[in-house]
Order: sequence, then C-alpha cells, then structure tokens
Amino acid sequence: MNKMKKAGTAASVPSETGVAERIEALLGRMSLAEKVGQLTQIGGADFIPGPKPEDIIRSGGAGSVLWLNDTKKFNALQKIAVEESPSKIPLLFALDVIHGYRTIFPVPLAMASSWDPAVAEQSQAVAAKEARAAGLHWTFGPMLDIARDARWGRIVEGAGEDPFLGAAMAAAQVRGFQGPYPGAPDHVIACAKHFAGYGAADGGRDYDPVYLSETQLRNVYFPPFQAAVKAGVGTFMSAYMDLNNVPASGNRWLLSDILRGEWGFQGLVVSDAFAVGSLVVQGFARDGRDAAFRALSAGVNMDMASNTYMQNLAGLVEDGTLKEAEIDAAVQPILALKVRMGLFEQPYIDEALLDQVIALPEHRQVARRAAQRSMVLLRNEGRLLPLSKNLKNVAVIGPLADSKEATEGSWMVFGHQPGAVTVLEGIRAKLPGARVEYASGPEIRRDFPSPFDDFDPGKRKPAQTPEAAEVAFQTAVETARGAELVIMVLGENADMAGEAASRGSLDLPGRQEDLLKAVVALGKPVVLVLLNGRPLSIVWAAEHVPAILEAWEPGSEGGNAIADILFGDANPGGKLPVCFPRSGSHAPLYYARTLTHAPEGSPMYRSRYWDSPTTPLYPFGFGLCYTTFLIANLEASASQVKVGQSVTVTADVTNTGRVAGDEVVQLYIHQKAGSDSRPMRELKGFERITLQPGETKTVTFHLGPDELGYWSTNADRWIQDAAAFDIWVGADSLATLHTDFEVVG
Ligand code: NOJ
Repeated sequence: MNKMKKAGTAASVPSETGVAERIEALLGRMSLAEKVGQLTQIGGADFIPGPKPEDIIRSGGAGSVLWLNDTKKFNALQKIAVEESPSKIPLLFALDVIHGYRTIFPVPLAMASSWDPAVAEQSQAVAAKEARAAGLHWTFGPMLDIARDARWGRIVEGAGEDPFLGAAMAAAQVRGFQGPYPGAPDHVIACAKHFAGYGAADGGRDYDPVYLSETQLRNVYFPPFQAAVKAGVGTFMSAYMDLNNVPASGNRWLLSDILRGEWGFQGLVVSDAFAVGSLVVQGFARDGRDAAFRALSAGVNMDMASNTYMQNLAGLVEDGTLKEAEIDAAVQPILALKVRMGLFEQPYIDEALLDQVIALPEHRQVARRAAQRSMVLLRNEGRLLPLSKNLKNVAVIGPLADSKEATEGSWMVFGHQPGAVTVLEGIRAKLPGARVEYASGPEIRRDFPSPFDDFDPGKRKPAQTPEAAEVAFQTAVETARGAELVIMVLGENADMAGEAASRGSLDLPGRQEDLLKAVVALGKPVVLVLLNGRPLSIVWAAEHVPAILEAWEPGSEGGNAIADILFGDANPGGKLPVCFPRSGSHAPLYYARTLTHAPEGSPMYRSRYWDSPTTPLYPFGFGLCYTTFLIANLEASASQVKVGQSVTVTADVTNTGRVAGDEVVQLYIHQKAGSDSRPMRELKGFERITLQPGETKTVTFHLGPDELGYWSTNADRWIQDAAAFDIWVGADSLATLHTDFEVVG
C-alpha cells in the first residue's frame, strides 16, 4: 500500500460548481451498467452468498460496500475500484457506527437522557474519528425514530418519545458525525434513519405495519428528520415497514414529496437492508423488476444489499420504462458525496492511523463523562446515595454486574469485541481496600434467540439447567448476606433490546425480581443499578429498593462512570427521555397526549384501567440529583403577543442543597383551544445547567411561531392559532410552576 495516496487531513471544501462539473464529466463517460453499479451497495461479509465483492467491484457493479470492518480489505477493494473498474470511481465504505467504533459511548437512548446535545455531538465526533481512521466513510446513524412504545426493541437506538428533544439530539449527532460540512476530515457522513414512522410499529412488534396520520407524522415523527436535514445530513435511510399500507422504501410521498420537495434534501437515500427486494415479500411489488422501478421512482437512490437494482434497472431503461436521465439523477448525489469526501484524490486509508487514533486518552474521557451525564437517578430514599468510600464489605450481585456485553449494550460495530469496564470492575477500582464479593445469580436469556445469533453460531451457549440456576440464586443470596451493603446490577442483556428485540412484557427478565426480593429481605441497604435498553416496569423495586440508578447501556467506561456516581465523584443529572410505564401492557404511553373529556383529576378519572393506575411509574423528564433545586419566578415577557411574534419566558433556578449539581430545566406548553385539540403538555425548551450550592441562575426560553405552530388536521396545513397558552417550567413533565399568555390575531 505504500505507493497509495493516503487519506490526509487537509481536504478543502469543493465549490458547488466544481462538484457539479465533475459529476457531469463522470456521468458522461460512465456506461449504464456502471451507473446502476453506483446505485448498488453490496455486503462485504464472507457469509453473504453470491458473487464475490471483488468481482462485482472490478466490473463497476457496486458504488458502496457495507458489513465489512477491515482496514486492509477496505484498501484492497478500493484499489480494485480505482485501478481496475471501468471509470475508476472510488467506493464508499459504510457501517453501523451507532454509539462508538472502538470506544463505546452510552446507547443513544442514554445519550438523550443527558439532555445535553453537546455530549451527543462530542461522542459522535469521537466515534466518527475512530471510524474514519479505520477506513469507513459513512455511518448508518443517527436513528431518529420517535418511540412511544417501550416494547419496541429499537427504542434503545433513538432519543425516546419526544419530538423536541429528539430534534435537538438529531442535529447534535449529525454535527458530531459529519463535522462542519459533509466530507470534513476525521468525520463520516451521517444517515438519518429510518424514514419514517418505524417506531410506531403495531404492538411494538419490530417490522410490523405502522398506521400514523399525517398530523402525527408531521407533528411528532418528522421533526427529528427535519432537524437532521437542517443540520446538513448527507444521507437518509428509508424504513422497512408499511406506512399506512405503503412500504416506506417505495413511498414517493415520503421520499420525494416531503423529503426532497418540502425540505429541500439533496443528498442520497439508501434503502434499509434488502428493503427494495422486500417490496415483493411485503406484497407491494409484483416482482424484482417492479420493486426496482417503484423504489427508484419513489426516491431510493441506493439499494442496500438486495441486488434488485443490479438485476433490473438496466433492463427497465433499455425497454423504455425508465429514462436514463432518471438513473443519472439518482447517481448524482452519490458521486457528489464521493467528490466532497475527496475520495477521488485520496481513496485510501493509512493503515497505521487507527491504532494511533484509538489510543487517544481523551476518547475514554469523553466516554466516561458521557456515561456519567446520561445516568438517571430514579430513587434515593433516606439519601442512601452517594455511598461512602469507607465501605469495607460490599456485595455486587446480578447477571449483568460483570458483563462487558451488557455494559456496552446493543448495536456493536461489526466484529467488535466488547471491552467495557464492568460495574464490578468499576466498584473494585473505586474501593481498592474493601472486600467486594460478586455473584451473578441465575442467567437471563431470550426465550426466542436473536436472528442475529445465526451469523455467529458459537455465540448462543446452552441454557443453564434449573438446578444450576437454583444454586446460582442461593449463592447470590448468601453472598449478599455476608456484606454490609449490596449493589444489585439487573436489567437486560445486550441482545434484549435493539433490532428484532421487541418484548411483550417490560418486567425484569428471568428470576431477577425474585432475586432482588430475596436480597432486600435480608434487611441490608440495597442499591439497584439498571443496565437496560428500554424502560422497565419496576413497580416493586420503586417501592422497596431505596436507591435506583438507571444507567442504561453506558459503554466502554460504564463501570467507572457508575462507580463515580454511586460514590459521589459525579452527581447524577440525567432525566428520562421516555416515561416508564407500570406494565408492558400499558404501552404505548407518553406524556404529550390530548386531554380527553375526562382528564386526569376529573371525577370521571380514577385510572383508565380498573386494575392498575395508568399514570407512568416515572414521568418523562424525571430524574433526581444529590442536591435540591428550587425553580421560581416564572415570567413571560408579555401577556399577549400577535401571531408570528415571540415571547420570552424566564425562571430562576437555585441550588438549595449542599453540593454542586445539574438541573435540566424544562418548559412545557399547552394550547388551551384552537383549530385542533393540542397535547396537554409539549416540551418546547430545556437547558441543563450546573449550580454551586446556594447559586441561582436565570434560564431563558423563547416561544415563537416554530414552537407555537403545528400541523392542523382541520386546516390540513401548518398553522399558528390565535389562542391562549399554559406554560409550565420545572424539573420534569409534571412541573407545577405555571403562567399563561395569549396569542392574538
Ligand atoms: C438493518 C437495520 O434496520 C438498519 O438500521 C441498519 O442500518 C441496516 N440493517 C444495515 O446494517
């Protein structure tokens, strides 16, 4: 490789005219087959059947490769593309780098719990730097699907239930991945996925159909995607499922009318994996030819892995069904990306770079801080936390306490070996002089194995026998009995959330709750640390375990960050980006519902179910801290403004406790009447601030047409009503500090 030009860091932003001219020149010399090749993304993994990637690339039959994570092989394939293929067009290497490449950050749901977009931006910038150093150009993230149903496994990959928080996290992640412009050195191209509505799968069952009104799509499900476009995202991924009976990957309204027409997106749309071919399986397209035609006409530029474009597009042009100009238009943004990334000048990656980049100590520091900031303290009775570092005899119990997989969480980069600091390791490092005993208790496992296990048949170990599980249970209880304090680490294995990882129940899997009860019955102080990728129904724990820390899946530095929080070296300040239902059967559950004729608190309202309260166990936006805050002096700059004008809202926040800490100040509105019923509360502003004991800060929010307008079912367009509004500012979505103002016509 030493004669190859190496990717450097001095790329400059090419001018728009320069890019257009180069694309025109390239298109002018490419054959139809090569153009179709650019629209084709092939799998690079050995287990994928069919022709070898090398042969496809040599003939100009592929524009991009995914499912490959091997720097040397990237260079080898690239060499074939730029030296042997007819038009010598470099390849784009793409992979799912969702929350870290080698240094693993908290899962996206956790990053959203930080309510700190800067944390997400910084984390994804490190992920991008490592991925780019490995030779990747393009990540399939961020996932921007709003998820209001905790049974849906992929809730872990997104920012939770709320469009306002989701949009802030979307823009931050795009900036982090891409840097100042698409193609910036040390960064990768981002991909806003899965467009759109995937998180609303019927029953939370992954891939199942979605039925969402245009009003819901525009007000709730689209805003993160639109924010990504505004932040300059280079690519989009079309979702798998049927949206109102039209598969997203064949949905012209979504991909052309909205995305390109209304939002002005000019980048490329890649289908989800095999989704073009799946248009046939889904009963939408007659055959591969019809699928290729419908996906391309709808606006899918690149076919991920189904080879349907490869097999059908040229024929569709030759028989006149498609015009070659339509193919050219689809190829154009793909070539534009390659030009902008400087791949024609520097197609290769320096094979020594990755080791230097991953060794940078700041990467681990960013990961540790991100993990600290994303954890949510759910309960702290009697101020059990923070714990004293003088503890001498601690038991760490639970199937996840020493699990590197569960600490790093779902969506590992292809071929990555988890190397996280576990909770046990983090606690042992924090208490070097103490006795820290560990027992796992019974194992937990999925009832139906993950379909992804099939790619790695050695992964699924035989199940523990009931006898071995019983011994593990009793050993765990005995280990706890011998300690002065017990830290239980419970939740979900990495394969229990994510793709194809939906659940019917939100209970702690396996015998974990029984073990928790048995340990609590010993009468010792117990701290529960949760490692999980979705809200769990922890009703019993919420009443009986004095301290509960929601640590999510915190990444490489997870164990250290958890120990930092448990022992007071960091103060928890995260807040829930989703509400915690009391039971899986309550999903979907979210705070931004409309009021109904029998709102909560009215005589007709006790609970929506007669067998359990339907309010969330923990509301959206909730999280405690080791200090206390007072939020007061809520003021709106005017009691009346005209449609189109803005109002400024301020509130004072004081740290009334004895240690420094963070509060996430949240602003919610409710439009009291108007064209449509509006949600009883909607988040429209937030700020995470740090306050020293006794310190007061004023937070300021702006409410203008963007925050007060909405897509109206009745008007069938975006409107801003002349209407009265409630405003609440506080520490979660149940905030009571209230004022109001009016918008007049
Ligand atoms: C399928 C998943 O739905 C998507 O999120 C992912 O990016 C692709 N596979 C590629 O791995």
